[in-house]
Amino acid sequence: MDTPTLKRSSPTSTAIAPQAVRTSGIDPNHWYVVARSPEVGDRPLGVTLWKQGIVLYRDQQGCIQALEDRCPHRQVKLSAGQVVGDAIECAYHGWQFDAAGQCSAVPYLAANQKLPNCRLRRYPVRELDGFIWLFPGEPELANQVEPLGLPEWEHLNYIASVAVIECAGHFSFLIENLMDMYHGHLHDNYQAWASAKLEHLDASNTRVDALYEAQSYYRIDKIWSISQLFFPALRRLHPEPLWVRYIYPHWVSTLGEDFKICCLFCPIDETHTRAYLIHFTSLQAFWRLHKLPVAFRRWLKDRLFGSAQKLLEGLVRQDVEMIEQEQQAFLARPERRSYELNRAIASVQRLICQRGQRGDHSQSC
Ligand code: FES
Ligand SMILES: [Fe+2]
Repeated sequence: MDTPTLKRSSPTSTAIAPQAVRTSGIDPNHWYVVARSPEVGDRPLGVTLWKQGIVLYRDQQGCIQALEDRCPHRQVKLSAGQVVGDAIECAYHGWQFDAAGQCSAVPYLAANQKLPNCRLRRYPVRELDGFIWLFPGEPELANQVEPLGLPEWEHLNYIASVAVIECAGHFSFLIENLMDMYHGHLHDNYQAWASAKLEHLDASNTRVDALYEAQSYYRIDKIWSISQLFFPALRRLHPEPLWVRYIYPHWVSTLGEDFKICCLFCPIDETHTRAYLIHFTSLQAFWRLHKLPVAFRRWLKDRLFGSAQKLLEGLVRQDVEMIEQEQQAFLARPERRSYELNRAIASVQRLICQRGQRGDHSQSC
């Protein structure tokens, strides 16, 4: 009797070289998320977006301002200083800079001296849907590109939870993790779906859309079904479409009609990424709820805010551990190719490299 032969695949010859993906820069002509709104209060906040130190602060009107985080006097961080009116004051000698980045006061300026003619870089910035969005590219293009936006953030029919991802890895590892639904193996007992299978893939020079068919056990209008999360043996599965979309530079996923998760990226440098994972549970199915007074629905939305946070954080911990191992393995042997069976990943890598090259070009112009 013939022994069945298994086909074996090798590292794909069409795959992009690992060095190109894992060291790719960002395309700066997009809106990135650099902080959550409540993080910017009375004091300045220093953040880093793709190797650029940026200080955020609120002016007297409560509007966010974003400047280079560097005092031109001695190059210390302005974020160590304080906000004075509409200006930011350096901690060291007290020089002040207005929201345009111009030096506006020096406490010991002599009568015969002029203010130094130094100007800090100012970044277009917007406060939207609970987050601070910043445009690190050419300022004149900022109005031509829209931030991703989260319409569910304020909508009364959606309950939000947020988890912050801090990982010692290039952003490509994180987006590949999010686009590859075959890694449900890692989370096993913690997710609302199983047995994902890639059904459809669309890729362009701005996004990658992948549709998986997944088996879900959760039904939003049957609250008891959540108990299946903790008792896998009781799970009653039904198929649900699971969309994952890399809408450069961010990620959006939907499971059926009831769940949406977004991941908003803040790539820090080649080996560090921060991101914000936002989970929305839809209350659309509860039609009786929609007849109740708006004030009550607002109270309920606020009361339930963060209800999935612990679950998200548990998933994130598992993902980050894998991503950091991938980064370390890359740093140890950058030339080593990996085996890949998911078509979506090659599309994601192509998009990262294309956009990264645009970024290199726009920075050298
Ligand atoms: S270093 Fe900032 S005022 Fe001197
Ligand atoms: Fe995961």
